[in-house]
Amino acid sequence: MSSAFQLHGVTCQFGDLVAVDEVSLSVKKGERVAFIGPSGSGKTTLIRLLNTMLVPDSGELSALGEPVADLGVASLRDLRVRIATMPQHLGLVENLTAIQNVVLGRGGSRSTIRSIRDLLFPSSRDAQEIHKLLDRVGIEDKLYTAISKLSGGQKQRVAIARALFQNPEVLLADEPVSAVDPARARDTVKLLTGLSEELGFTLCVSLHHLELAKEFFPRLIGLRDGRIVFDGSPESLNETELDALYQLSAEEMMTDA
Ligand SMILES: Nc1ncnc2c1ncn2[C@@H]1O[C@H](COP(=O)(O)OP(=O)(O)OP(=O)(O)O)[C@@H](O)[C@H]1O
Ligand SMILES: [Mg+2]
Repeated sequence: MSSAFQLHGVTCQFGDLVAVDEVSLSVKKGERVAFIGPSGSGKTTLIRLLNTMLVPDSGELSALGEPVADLGVASLRDLRVRIATMPQHLGLVENLTAIQNVVLGRGGSRSTIRSIRDLLFPSSRDAQEIHKLLDRVGIEDKLYTAISKLSGGQKQRVAIARALFQNPEVLLADEPVSAVDPARARDTVKLLTGLSEELGFTLCVSLHHLELAKEFFPRLIGLRDGRIVFDGSPESLNETELDALYQLSAEEMMTDA
């Protein structure tokens, strides 16, 4: 099976701060992977490297077989269309309707003029497809509702539909279930993993809910201070490794005190 992602010694810094530190990993096409780890451990930065919005300061990164550093603007744009991202705060436009937000999902592959036209007057073909997608994610009755009038769980579903409208080969979801109750969070994660299984796209998710990660993902990657400290199945994650992943360091305890 070919790779969705291959990273060799990838480092990404913001000034002096090393957010992702010499990370090497390989994700196969069709895999479902959860990135876990404390706040600030580098999960979002890693996801932004995978979707090519950030460029490594050193190391090599290939996405869907393409060495990202070698790609020109046009090839990069083509690659980004194949990788959908649900950003940490969903990135929905609150005063637009669900259908308009979903239409924006295909913006990357369409000209600006076409995107604006689609936004104002979605074609009947797009509308039909979006209707089906919203049906698939369980909110078909919200097609013409403004995002600002939806619950947290419903917004997550619009964000999933928007990502799927891109027909992605990979879906990267950065903390897709924050700010909802545990039952809604479980439903959304179940929906995402089910869709990945059904449609065959690779799914990489960052999750604070360790229990959900363990229940729905066959592979967990634990990050701490930008480094991988664990990479394996939920069954193989033991207490010592969990402690190493989430325990506050002496320095952090001093800061919290
Ligand atoms: N644009 C940026 N400029 C400067 N520093 C940044 C930037 N983005 C992230 N960082 C820093 O990089 C480190 C990793 O941040 P990142 O957002 O990747 O962590 P995270 O694991 O996603 O955290 P959380 O669980 O809170 O979302 C943090 O120390 C953060 O402050
Ligand atoms: Mg984050």
